[in-house]
Amino acid sequence: MTYAYFDHNATTAVDDAVLDAMLPYFQKEYGNASSRHALGIAARRAVNQAREQVADSVGAQPAQVVFTSGGSEANNLFIQGAAGYLKPAQIAVSSVEHPCVMRSAQELARNSRGSWKLRRLAVDNQGQVDLGDLDNAMLEQQSGLVSVMLANNETGVIQDVAAIAQKARAYGAWVHTDAVQAFGKIPADFASLNVHAMTLSGHKIYGPKGAAALIIDKRLLLKPLIYGGGHENGLRSGTENVPAIVGLGVACGLAKARLTERTTRILAMRSQLEQGLIGMGAVIFGLGAPRLPNTCYFALAGIEGDTLVVRLDKAGFAVASGAACSSVNPGRSHVLEAMGIDPTLTRCAVRVSLGSDNSPAQVENFLRAVGSVAQELKRISMLAI
Ligand SMILES: Cc1ncc(COP(=O)(O)O)c(C=O)c1O
Repeated sequence: MTYAYFDHNATTAVDDAVLDAMLPYFQKEYGNASSRHALGIAARRAVNQAREQVADSVGAQPAQVVFTSGGSEANNLFIQGAAGYLKPAQIAVSSVEHPCVMRSAQELARNSRGSWKLRRLAVDNQGQVDLGDLDNAMLEQQSGLVSVMLANNETGVIQDVAAIAQKARAYGAWVHTDAVQAFGKIPADFASLNVHAMTLSGHKIYGPKGAAALIIDKRLLLKPLIYGGGHENGLRSGTENVPAIVGLGVACGLAKARLTERTTRILAMRSQLEQGLIGMGAVIFGLGAPRLPNTCYFALAGIEGDTLVVRLDKAGFAVASGAACSSVNPGRSHVLEAMGIDPTLTRCAVRVSLGSDNSPAQVENFLRAVGSVAQELKRISMLAI
């Protein structure tokens, strides 16, 4: 049985060019980038080159790139690190953030014994941040930090981060965007987004897991999460993971070079997919908002998402249920909840996230499989009545 992978928002396979670039740094060029000998110098050169590639892919300067172990760490570094320098105030985050932003903001409020106040920004029924609520939040209390993701991992809904940043900056807040899902799927130019910091991660863009970056405005002062030898300009100590950093650099370069080609092809497949699903009576979440070209989050009323995911897996298709999108609240999607979706429909949510290795034939086969599994499950539920 051939297997079709439709879960690219969870992770992606490492691109051949990325792997080729990484391999020498495991054995032949295994130096510590802080060493003064030839092997160390070669490793440092590779890290510097990756820093340039990452910076170039988002229109930033190499000195603005801080390598981290993942998007989760980068998001935590911004939130905890910025709060470490600022006078306690309000931290405003959208109510659809990934747990690594939401939980970090919750911990900040808890650990500061309430000096930092967490404010969740409301989203509309399409999943976009309500700009009126952002105004209310800014007026209610002095905001030190604002973090709103560029695109959501479950729905793919894109936020108007530049508009959000403009409003938040007017009140003196530091603004961050988690671009982990958006980067490589839509343009993510650091300067145009007008933020103080932005997160991206390697394994969502055909790069390695455990390699990511926080892009920062150089005027920003952050307290490190990890102390030690002062790597990454003192912001993130620890011997650099050279192969992973090299892979991240190449993956970022490819993400920039292939953006248009990747997204045009993928968007055509997503339209094919959604036409078929709508024909079966599916509800597509966030359909009325701008979305990532690869993401389709749908529900077939009466068919549990988890059940559909297991059946489709057996039929050779890897997709995610709404529940699987959040390991914090298994069985519920806080994203759909924030959008005000009926909980009975929320339980039916399934996410398809397409990637460059998919084909229109796979989408066609998938639609056929969904149709027959849905029919079978409906028959079973009718028999049970
Ligand atoms: C929107 C978003 N932010 C952050 C992360 C975490 O990134 P990482 O897996 O690199 O820690 C993810 C991963 O799923 C994500 O989807």
